[in-house]
Amino acid sequence: MESISSIKDLHKYLELNSNKKITLIPTMGNLHKGHLELIGQAPANTHKIVSIYVNKLQFNNSDDYDSYPRSINLDIEKCKDNNVDMVFMPDDSFLENINEYEDIHLPEFTNHLCGKTRDSHFLGVYKIVRNLFDMIKPNYACFGIKDYQQLLLIKFIASKYFPNLEIIEVDTVRNKEKIALSSRLNKLDKKAILKAANIYICLTSIKQKIIDGKDFNIIRDEEIQNLESKNIKVEYLEHRTNTTLNPVKQDISDTSIFIACFIDNVRLIDNIQI
Ligand code: PAF
Repeated sequence: MESISSIKDLHKYLELNSNKKITLIPTMGNLHKGHLELIGQAPANTHKIVSIYVNKLQFNNSDDYDSYPRSINLDIEKCKDNNVDMVFMPDDSFLENINEYEDIHLPEFTNHLCGKTRDSHFLGVYKIVRNLFDMIKPNYACFGIKDYQQLLLIKFIASKYFPNLEIIEVDTVRNKEKIALSSRLNKLDKKAILKAANIYICLTSIKQKIIDGKDFNIIRDEEIQNLESKNIKVEYLEHRTNTTLNPVKQDISDTSIFIACFIDNVRLIDNIQI
């Protein structure tokens, strides 16, 4: 497996491997089983490139950026063990060399859910991912359904600028307590992790109640109270359509419940399809 950190070396490498189909797995490192599942979903016989870059542009809080868990040596070992062909891990100067793009129009759905509170988060994701797609020109790229709003944005970028790129949607990986795996879980102690198990319990309970015909607005207040009684601070808990992320009116098909919440100041997100 090769590790590359400069854009110049990346171009050289891509030229040498220009006869291969590429699957790109963009990450911010601190790889866990969720990332390994993304790697595992790369189509057979494609060249697997994992990018590892903690993207400052998508953090709206510098403490959050500084304290984001980093474990580059372990990450490289995990990539080797999972048959990755190349790890692209640009250094901090990467941002100075990326294209800023003059034609950025973020779709309306980026203003909802995480876009409401995380100022310019999706603009930061957009810039990095579009640059990675432009540089690497992958045939496939894998993204998780856990970051559903991000996945919609990536599909938007792909459909607008990269007609030959197929986005592979990968199911959320959960631990035995059904907690959606996230690098941020590393910031929680054991007690807080146990609390996090309530997130999925809440989502499945709401799902069942919606299927039973209950009114979401009433359920929401009860569930928020329940979570807050366990010291889980809810940022949003919403029932939205899967394509526009607008609130659901009547038809519950093709909709999901989305949550963002804080446990001990660590922000976690999750979702469940109805
Ligand atoms: O999902 C992530 O880890 C990041 O948002 C991504 C897609 C690698 C862009 O920095």
